[in-house]
Amino acid sequence: MSVRTIGVVMNGVTGRMGYRQHLVRSVLAINEQGGVTLSDGGRVKLKPVLVGRNADKLADIAAKHGLSEFTTDLDSALADDDNLIYFDAQVTSARVKAVLKAIEAGKHIYAEKPTAESTHEAVALAEAAAAKGVKNGVVQDKLFLPGLLKLKRLIDGGFFGRILSVRGEFGYWVFEGDWQEAQRPSWNYRAEDGGGIVLDMFPHWHYVMENLFGRVQSVYARAVTHLPSRVDEQGRTYQATADDAAYGIFELEGGIIAQINSSWTVRVNRDELVEFQVDGTHGSAVAGLRNCRVQHRSATPKPVWNPDLPATARFRDGWQEVPDNAEFDNGFKVQWEAFVRHVVEDAPFPNDFASGARGVQLAELGLRSNAEGRRIEVPGL
Ligand SMILES: NC(=O)c1ccc[n+]([C@@H]2O[C@H](COP(=O)([O-])OP(=O)(O)OC[C@H]3O[C@@H](n4cnc5c(N)ncnc54)[C@H](O)[C@@H]3O)[C@@H](O)[C@H]2O)c1
Repeated sequence: MSVRTIGVVMNGVTGRMGYRQHLVRSVLAINEQGGVTLSDGGRVKLKPVLVGRNADKLADIAAKHGLSEFTTDLDSALADDDNLIYFDAQVTSARVKAVLKAIEAGKHIYAEKPTAESTHEAVALAEAAAAKGVKNGVVQDKLFLPGLLKLKRLIDGGFFGRILSVRGEFGYWVFEGDWQEAQRPSWNYRAEDGGGIVLDMFPHWHYVMENLFGRVQSVYARAVTHLPSRVDEQGRTYQATADDAAYGIFELEGGIIAQINSSWTVRVNRDELVEFQVDGTHGSAVAGLRNCRVQHRSATPKPVWNPDLPATARFRDGWQEVPDNAEFDNGFKVQWEAFVRHVVEDAPFPNDFASGARGVQLAELGLRSNAEGRRIEVPGL
């Protein structure tokens, strides 16, 4: 069977996501396993062309992984016809300009979320890609988490009956940077640099809700900056101008109410960094990144409210672990493989720029809801 190699321009590989999840754990891991397998048994290997602003950092990464191609000149990388795909994991604020350039150069585009900072720009990207006839995709990694795949399996198997509500709890304490280094980049906490937890997380929640439960019809959100100042990578104190916590209520098609808290200012008292509890007429589930537990209606305890007595049951004991029943690969890699198949053999890839734009729209409307203090309808895009 044939093995071919295609060039992938990778912009933003010095960053957290670009380096670890996309270069090392996806593109290089795909090559190590012998490439992406196509439907006819053929294989596609990927030749990463590293692009960034700092030649020394790129050279270090290239040397560490035995790669030969890196440049600070995006135009020259885009001019090479061997490079079929442009991938963008830059800071969000730098994405639109570079992606438009890559579309203009006729590259197929894969990008981190959010695809843009505004709905207007996100839609413009989707339209530009469609007009040029290039394939396009956005990272929607949470869909490939084992915990959410198990949740999807429960939904598809009819476990829940009618789904009533979803309670999402996401977050952890991001250190302020003074006495312990922050574990996220400082731009995340500056609105003027594309930061903010609404813009970061609502696009994720959008594709999770849309794919698992149904179209999002309205949003009410309260976005808050709990910590007004933090300390950056250079040890300088800066003003945190972006929201670091968001408390959202979303109404979904079918009358499902989803409530999702997102916070970088919460201490974890959960089993996982994100958990979704889904309650349905026939059963409930709590899904995290990896695990998923269920309680069927037939095994539901009957607590009676009486604060004068100790709890009558150990409620957490009444839940049952959902088995894996499958091998779960790294979700970022799985999505890369799907995108490469989409480019090379036109395999379906639903996570396109149009769906990315709907995610950006939800973030924008969430921020508007916060500013205006009201529930906002989500118009179809
Ligand atoms: N899918 C996910 O789960 C997930 C998680 C975190 C971040 N992200 C997204 O990935 C993107 C990158 O996030 P990150 O956490 O890796 O950020 P990061 O700060 O670690 O990396 C940012 C990258 O962009 C480059 N860059 C280009 N122009 C820049 C500029 N003007 N200022 C600063 N850096 C610039 C940097 O050199 C670096 O390579 C963001 O759009 C973010 O929303 C996605």
